Amino acid sequence: MDILDQMVKFANKDIIFKKSAKITKEDTILERFFSKAQDLSEDSHKQMSLYVAFLRGLYLVHQQNHWETKGYQQHLLFQRLYENVLESADNAAEKTVGLFGSLMSKGLESKIADQFKTEKPDLEACVKSSLKAEKSYQNLVKKVYDGLKERNELTLGLDDMLMSQANDSETRIYLLQQSIV
Ligand SMILES: [Fe+2]
Repeated sequence: MDILDQMVKFANKDIIFKKSAKITKEDTILERFFSKAQDLSEDSHKQMSLYVAFLRGLYLVHQQNHWETKGYQQHLLFQRLYENVLESADNAAEKTVGLFGSLMSKGLESKIADQFKTEKPDLEACVKSSLKAEKSYQNLVKKVYDGLKERNELTLGLDDMLMSQANDSETRIYLLQQSIV
């Protein structure tokens, strides 16, 4: 047996060919991932759905601020922000449906966006509103990440996605802070 065969055998051992679909404490995250979506917990399903709704709300906040700002540079900055968030929301939604079968909390995004509305349509207020929403997103992504990890439901793919989306948010925060110097 060559090394590749050995690796494939090792990887598949007790995972792909496991007969019983029953989930026990000893089951690994990979086994649960390959079994039916409903084996992952309701808490994770809810939190990931909220996470998607929050990203969609964040998208609405940046887009509203894009429409409010008159200066060309700022107008483009907010466009860059909402386009970036849209990509995250789409990826997170697809992953959530893939892992949990559906999205809960539909229609929540406008309520989330309302929390971060600008008080006045000037640049400073728009930047503040977008920054507040991004900081709140940072808190949420940390909570969702920690929750999934604690329940042993953080797949490598989810881990990678959440970290990279949190990293994108840090870049957006940096860009927003640069715009008010
Ligand atoms: Fe536009």
